[in-house]
Amino acid sequence: MRAEVLTATDPAAIRLAGEVIRSGGLVAFPTETVYGLGCDALSPEAVARVFEVKRRPSFDPLIVHIGAQSSLDRLVQTISPGEHRLMDAFWPGPLTLVLQKSESVPDLVTAGLPTVAIRMPVHPVALALIREAGVPIAAPSANPFGYVSPTTAEHVRQTLGDRIDLILDGGPCPIGVESTIISMLDARPEILRPGALPLSAIEDVIGPVTCRSGSDQRPPAPGRLARHYATRTPMTILPARGAHVRGTVERAGLLAMSAPVSLGGYTVVEVLSASGDLREVARNLFAALRRLDALGLDRLYAEPCEEQGLGLAIMDRLRRCAAPGQCEDETRSNSERRASS
Ligand code: TXA
Ligand code: MG
Repeated sequence: MRAEVLTATDPAAIRLAGEVIRSGGLVAFPTETVYGLGCDALSPEAVARVFEVKRRPSFDPLIVHIGAQSSLDRLVQTISPGEHRLMDAFWPGPLTLVLQKSESVPDLVTAGLPTVAIRMPVHPVALALIREAGVPIAAPSANPFGYVSPTTAEHVRQTLGDRIDLILDGGPCPIGVESTIISMLDARPEILRPGALPLSAIEDVIGPVTCRSGSDQRPPAPGRLARHYATRTPMTILPARGAHVRGTVERAGLLAMSAPVSLGGYTVVEVLSASGDLREVARNLFAALRRLDALGLDRLYAEPCEEQGLGLAIMDRLRRCAAPGQCEDETRSNSERRASS
């Protein structure tokens, strides 16, 4: 199967995509954060296909995307006043809430958890697709499990294009990092994954929130697995911006937060934002990682940014990319691959 890529501004494309979802198919679509791989959230068969296509471990639950708060009635048990305040403040937008699930949400979606993660995206194509499909849409990021998330239709086509039904091309994602995931189910609200919506914005609405750092082996949000969002090329985070590479790495790439003074011995430099604007950094991050990863370099070096606002999500993704381990489909380093090809 080869996915058709359709321009999302065409109403006929949205109608077709809605039909594909309703009949159990898989549609990749843009959201304001990253591209999602969507299916009918209420169809266990369709959800199973998403896991299969992504090679996603079954312990990693999916986010359910809705277009109106009225859809919650069917999906969750109760909503607390604090949860209501968050929805009113930030939906539609890049905030995912973990809520007590109802019976109608298949266990496959939630990996057997009694909770379900729900978000209402603000991207017009995502909202149009949900409306057209007429069902809630379960959608993980549209990338093979563990790899860098997609922020363009082309990213999706490159890695999943031969395994899904349709790709809606809505241009590059405006934010570029995933939604912030929060749970208010315990006494103190907790951020399970830092993301596009800054912590401070959330605290302005509901007061102090815990943001656990670090990772677990079987975490409540596998976006917290130590190694995730990872390039095949090993990555090191530099101790500071502009720090020089030590050692004699043959061919290295630099991921720079702002315009560097010189190439400094790197084979290639990706500047995420000439002025160091974190919104621009987030928007360009995953595409730059994919470009660097395609070059077959020996190592990537990433400059750090301040862990404020969007910087928290950006550093979270970089640390997981740099964590030791391998991509699931990766057994050889780039230098070994070059040597044998
Ligand atoms: O911005 C986003 O959130 C994107 C777009 C497509 O909406 N989606 C996304 O999905 O990042 P995914 O599958 O790549 O990451 C979803 C994260 C996973 O880390 C998963 O473990 C967590 O959400 N999650 C899902 N259900 C959960 C639950 N019931 N409790 C805790 N974490 C949950
Ligand atoms: Mg993901």
